[in-house]
Amino acid sequence: MSKNVVSQRRIYFDHNATTPLHPEVIKTMTEVMPAFGNPSSLHSFGRKVRQLVEEARQQVSSFIGANPDDIIFVGSGSEANNTVLSIFTCPSMQCMLQSQARTEIITTKIEHPCILETCKCLVDRGTTISYLDVDRYGKIDIEQLKSTITAKTGLVSVMMANNEIGTIQDIKAISQVVRSKGVLFHTDAVQAVGKVPVDVKDLDVDFLSLSGHKIYGPKGIGALYVKKGVPFCPLIRGGHQEKGRRAGTENTLGIIGLGKAIEMRRLEMKAEEARLLELKAVLKKGIQEKIPDIQFNGHPTDCLAGTLNVSFQGAEGEAILLYLDLEGIAVSTGSACASGSLDPSHVLLATGIPAEQAHGSIRLSLGRASTKEEVEYVLDKFPSVIKKIRSMSTAYAKRSKS
Ligand SMILES: Cc1ncc(COP(=O)(O)O)c(C=O)c1O
Repeated sequence: MSKNVVSQRRIYFDHNATTPLHPEVIKTMTEVMPAFGNPSSLHSFGRKVRQLVEEARQQVSSFIGANPDDIIFVGSGSEANNTVLSIFTCPSMQCMLQSQARTEIITTKIEHPCILETCKCLVDRGTTISYLDVDRYGKIDIEQLKSTITAKTGLVSVMMANNEIGTIQDIKAISQVVRSKGVLFHTDAVQAVGKVPVDVKDLDVDFLSLSGHKIYGPKGIGALYVKKGVPFCPLIRGGHQEKGRRAGTENTLGIIGLGKAIEMRRLEMKAEEARLLELKAVLKKGIQEKIPDIQFNGHPTDCLAGTLNVSFQGAEGEAILLYLDLEGIAVSTGSACASGSLDPSHVLLATGIPAEQAHGSIRLSLGRASTKEEVEYVLDKFPSVIKKIRSMSTAYAKRSKS
């Protein structure tokens, strides 16, 4: 490619940030768009939309092994996560737990900012939060979890799959420990649902968060699973929507789109996972063979099929992102919410890699439309991009000479 010419190719390897709408989701949402009734209205306009919303609730609940009544539609994965943590400390919730003493929360150092920022806010309000470490692959240590739970612990929140490095936690083993101590358990499954099998009964969780736009559904819609009988109080108060658990007129189009997206996941997820694993293997091997001084981050096997996080010595992640963008390739330097900040990724730092290496890391996340041809194009462009950036790095030149 000659200087200053921007490639006409467009390759999207940033599916963990968001995904395009599935064509079937577009079709369904377009069809139902004229149905404008308020699902709380008793007349036919309202009843028609209510029926569509309840169909979506059925689709979402059955996909994760829940009952329809256990699903609360919310505005995003962030809202689902905020709800669980924030309501936990509210006096009426503590009262329902019948234990004023169980006020402490345990989470991990690699959670999404919507968990970590909420935790910071709760600390300011007097809640004690403990943060579990992770190993170099991003896995928590079950023994550390066991020893961190005390008689004061009321809630443990551990994400199922990490958005930056793709590492998948053993949620079933974690829930067994948490359960044995009589503590409530939440998992942020925003990056997991629709990519790996998730069954709330098998995992034995009390709360689970998911989001529409990570699975080819619309943005601004999420769902929170709350196990039957588990104490709950709403974060957003007002009307009686969602059986009094989340006030506000429902995002009906978003809910219906989410239901359809989940239905498509049911049909496509398994085959897609196998295909993405193959593509990732090609990508990984190619990077390894063509580019020196790299390190892959995340768990080698317990990892989302389409996620590959890699560090390049002597190259800034932001520079890599921008040069790849000129070649028409979209990747990310970390979670979309964290980009724009110059701090190195908290996830990578938690895995123990030095800040300098964390700065030189990018995430490639493949999805349902990714092809072998795209992977080959990326492998074709990648080495020269890294070479160009490294040629401008005096630190890298010095290191190579030594
Ligand atoms: C693991 C994880 N949790 C929560 C969220 C937030 O979801 P939403 O964008 O729907 O608020 C994200 C989004 O990046 C995520 O990756």
